[in-house]
Amino acid sequence: MTLTDVSVSTLAAPHPLGSLSTAEFTAIRDIVINADGFTDTTRFAYVGLAEPHKREVLAWQAGTGPLPDRKARVMLLDMATGRSTDNIVSLGGGAVGGGVIESTHVLDGSAGQLPILDTEFEAIAGIVNADPRWVAALAERGTTIDEVVVVPLSAGYYDLPEEIGRRIVRVLAFRQDYPTDHPWAHPVDGLCAYVDTAAGTITRLIDAATVAIPAEGGNFNDPAVQGEPLTTLKPIVISQPEGPSFAVDGEWVTWANWKFQVGFDTREGLVLRQLSFTDAGEERPIIYRASINEMLVPYGDPSPVRFWQNYFDTGEYLFGRYTNSLALGCDCVGEIRYFDAVLADELGNPFTIPNGICMHEEDVGTLWKHSDLFTGAHEVRRQRRLVISFFTTVGNYDYGFYWYLSLDGTIECEAKLTGVLFTSAYPGIAAPGATHDAGADYPYASEVAPGLGAPYHQHLFSARLDMTVDGTANAVDEIEAVRLPMGPGNEHGNAFTMKSTRLASEAASGRLADASVARSWHIVNTEKTNRMGRPTGYALLPEANPTLMADPQSSIAKRAEFATKHLFVTQYDPSEKYAAGDFVHQNPGGDGITKYIADDASIDGEDIVLWHTFGPTHFPRVEDWPVMPVDYAKFTLKPYGFFGANPTLNVPASEPVAHCSHGGEPEVHAAHASPAAASAASAAGGSACAGHADHA
Ligand code: CO
Repeated sequence: MTLTDVSVSTLAAPHPLGSLSTAEFTAIRDIVINADGFTDTTRFAYVGLAEPHKREVLAWQAGTGPLPDRKARVMLLDMATGRSTDNIVSLGGGAVGGGVIESTHVLDGSAGQLPILDTEFEAIAGIVNADPRWVAALAERGTTIDEVVVVPLSAGYYDLPEEIGRRIVRVLAFRQDYPTDHPWAHPVDGLCAYVDTAAGTITRLIDAATVAIPAEGGNFNDPAVQGEPLTTLKPIVISQPEGPSFAVDGEWVTWANWKFQVGFDTREGLVLRQLSFTDAGEERPIIYRASINEMLVPYGDPSPVRFWQNYFDTGEYLFGRYTNSLALGCDCVGEIRYFDAVLADELGNPFTIPNGICMHEEDVGTLWKHSDLFTGAHEVRRQRRLVISFFTTVGNYDYGFYWYLSLDGTIECEAKLTGVLFTSAYPGIAAPGATHDAGADYPYASEVAPGLGAPYHQHLFSARLDMTVDGTANAVDEIEAVRLPMGPGNEHGNAFTMKSTRLASEAASGRLADASVARSWHIVNTEKTNRMGRPTGYALLPEANPTLMADPQSSIAKRAEFATKHLFVTQYDPSEKYAAGDFVHQNPGGDGITKYIADDASIDGEDIVLWHTFGPTHFPRVEDWPVMPVDYAKFTLKPYGFFGANPTLNVPASEPVAHCSHGGEPEVHAAHASPAAASAASAAGGSACAGHADHA
C-alpha cells in the first residue's frame, strides 16, 4: 500500500488526523456549554480528537472514500453532583456552529471514574485543613497545617464501601520549611487522609504511627547545596550552518526518507502518526499511530499509608496536559523546530503550551565502516537521527519521551526519567508480619539521605504501536535463539538456530521478554515479500526488565494486566485505545487489555496493534537524591527483511571538516594526510576522515 501524498496546506478542511486546533476547541466548548445538562459546575475533564476509523482514513487517502468527519471526545464532570459523561461531539463537517453532541455515555462509577481534575486537586488543602483530626495528627508530629503542603494522589481501588461510586483521592503531607524549600525532603509519615472530593470530606484518616519528619533539606537548586561550580567545562556548540535537513508542513514532517505527522493529545502527549519510509521512490508505511498510551508507577512498600501507591500518570492524571514548555531553552540543542501543543482547560477554553514538542537532528556516530584487507577500501559513514520529544512533569517526577528515527530505518522510543524521588521516612513503618528494628534495613525502601526513604517502585510504560508494516495485513512472529542437542547432524554440539513462532490470536499474545534467548517479536506483512521471497517485517527489540512485581491477585494486577507482560497484540479496534481502559481512576480492574483480548480475535494477517510494556524497576540510589540524574528505558523497532539490503549505502561520506581533526586545528589534518592520500581515499569513494585514520 502506498499512501497518497496529501499536502495539508492545500486542504480546505483539516486533515482527519490533524490535532484539534484552537478554533476547533472553541467550537467544541460552545457546542457543549449550550447543550442540555451542562451546568455552572460542569468541568471539562478531557477534550481530544476522536479519530476516524483507520479504514476510512486510508480510503480517503487512497482516493476511494470521502473525507471523514471531524469529531471530538469530551469528558465532562459536574463537580457538584459527580455526574460524569463521555461524549462524542461532531464538529459538523468543519463548519463552526454546525456541530452537535452525537452521543453521551453516563458513567455509573462501577467501571472507573473520569481522570482527576486540577480543580479537585486545588480543593484538597481546604478540605483536609478544615478537619480537626488532620490538624491533631499533624500536631502529634510537631507540625501544623501552615507548615505542610498536601499531595493528593490517585486512590486505586480497594473495595471500601464508602468509596464505591465516589471520587476519592488519598492525601499525604510534606513539611515545607520556607517558601522555596522543597517539601519532598520532609515527608510526614504514618499519616494519610482518604478524601471524597465531591463531598469535600475526609472519609478515613489513617494515623498509623508517629515518625520523625526527616530534617535534612533537599534543595538541589540552592547554590549552597550545589557547592563550588565545576569550572573546567568548555562550551559544546552544535552547528548546522546550512540549517536542519527536515521539512515541515503544518504537522507533517519529512526528513531523509522518513515522513510522518507530529500530533499531540492531552492524555498521551506526543503522538506520531503514519510513519513511512520512502524506499526506491515508494512510500512504504510502517506505523499508523504510536504513543505512550499509559504508564503506571506501582510502589512496593506495603506500609499502611502507602500500599495503594499505584499511579497511572496517563489514564488518571492525563500527563499530556503537564507538558513542559521548552521555550526557556536548555532542553534541546542544535537546530530546533518546536511545535506548540494546544489543549482545552477545565472550562473548555483552548490554551497553548508554546514549544511543547521539540524536533531536531543528532549526529550519533558511526553508521557503517570498513577498512578492507584485500581491496584497500576505507569507507565510513556517519549515522544521524531525527529526535521528536516532549517532557512532562507529573508531581515529583519529570518524564521525557524521545522518539528517534534513524537513517537506516530504525525507530526507537526512549523514556527519560528525572525529577525528585517520592519519599518516606526511613526507617519506615514495618509491614504486618515483617520484623523491623530502628536502624535495621527496611526491606521496601532505600535510605537516600539520613532518615529519608525512597520506596522501591517501578515505572511501566505502555507503548501502543498501531502497525502498518507495508500495509494492514500484519502478523507477529516470536523469534528466539535455540540451542540444539548434540547428536546426529550436530556431532560437535556447536549448532544453534533461530526459532520462529507465529502468535495466533489475542488470547495467546501475552508474552514476556527473555534476554537469555534474545527473544524478539517480528511484525511481518503476510502479503508482501522482499527480494528473497520472505515476508517484509520489523523487529520489536525489548529490554528485558521485570514486568509488574505486585502479586497476580493484587488489585493493581487486575487493574493493569497490560503490565504483567511485555507484549500483547490485538486486532485493530478504534475503541481500544488505552492499555488500562478508558476510565482508569478507581477502576476495579478487568478493563483495557483484559477486555481487548477477551474475544480472542485473530491477529494473523490482520490489522494489528502491539502493546509493549517497558521501563525500569527502581531501587533508588543515594545518587538519585536530591534530584535524579536521568535514567533511561527504551525499546527499538528495526527493519528485519523490510529492505532488500542495507538501505543506507547512498548516504554520502561526511566532508572532512573540523570534526575529523585533532586538537581543534584543521590544518593538522592536512599535515597528517598528504594530498595524494586524501585524493586516493576520495577516488575509492571514501572520505578523507578514513584516509586520516589510516595515517594516524
Ligand atoms: Co523511579
